[in-house]
Amino acid sequence: MTVEEFVKLRDFVYRKTGIYFEEHKKYYVESRIESRIRATGHENFRSYFTWLRFDMMGKELQELVNLLTVNETYFFREYYQLKCFAEEVLPEILDKKRGEKLRKIRVWSAGCSTGEEPYTLAIIMEEMLEDLEGVTWEVHATDINTEVMEKAELGLYSKRSVRLVPEEYKMRYFLKRGEFYEVIPNIKKKVEFYQLNLMDAAEMRKMNNFDLIFCRNVLIYFDDASRREVALYFYEALTEGGYIFLGHSESMSRITPIFKLRRFKNAFVYQK
Ligand SMILES: C[S@@+](CC[C@H](N)C(=O)[O-])C[C@H]1O[C@@H](n2cnc3c(N)ncnc32)[C@H](O)[C@@H]1O
Repeated sequence: MTVEEFVKLRDFVYRKTGIYFEEHKKYYVESRIESRIRATGHENFRSYFTWLRFDMMGKELQELVNLLTVNETYFFREYYQLKCFAEEVLPEILDKKRGEKLRKIRVWSAGCSTGEEPYTLAIIMEEMLEDLEGVTWEVHATDINTEVMEKAELGLYSKRSVRLVPEEYKMRYFLKRGEFYEVIPNIKKKVEFYQLNLMDAAEMRKMNNFDLIFCRNVLIYFDDASRREVALYFYEALTEGGYIFLGHSESMSRITPIFKLRRFKNAFVYQK
């Protein structure tokens, strides 16, 4: 793959997904593209790329996205943030909800990969939310990658994925299936998975009334322009006073000033 070809493909993927590959990622992209060129019976990059661009159904783009996205995740990732969510943010939201007409706490894991993050959030909510007084809750989980979403719905995980799950939660919320751990049905049914591209304006505008959004370790693959675009969709999707959690190395203040920074004991969180 020449540098020119790499740039063509990189720009195409960027326009569709917001994911931006710097030049030093050329090898990563190249090895994946070459396997797609072979699998689809094309002779070279040029013929593959022409076919990709004119594939109106977007089927090949989906295959490519499934290969190019980085899906690393595990249960109870970035524990201090989850502690903040459980002990500081959730009680505040529950209090607020008790006084409202729509007594439902809505949480969205945006870029949920194989499901460890939304299931972690559901486990925490199940543990923390007592005395609900009629307040209910639900977790929405979305990703652009259809392959990881299928795994997420299965809810079957390796020992490595659950390594940080506290032992008593492992007993309460998982069923042992040979070498694997399966999330119990009660938690599964609290999480609704569906595909969503964060750069799809029409679909993003349908997302609203969320009290909490977790978008951790997703926007690190975007550039500043696409981060800003997504941040504005998130702003619209949140209820007044709603919160957004980003990954520990990510900063909203660098992207846009529209969110307030709330300093809790355990973590910093952005608020609408
Ligand atoms: C590294 S994983 C993060 C998983 C989880 N949030 C965590 O922190 O453990 C990043 C996920 O973002 C998804 N992603 C990347 N670009 C996306 C886009 N434009 N729309 C939706 N999801 C996207 C990828 O498919 C991948 O599953």
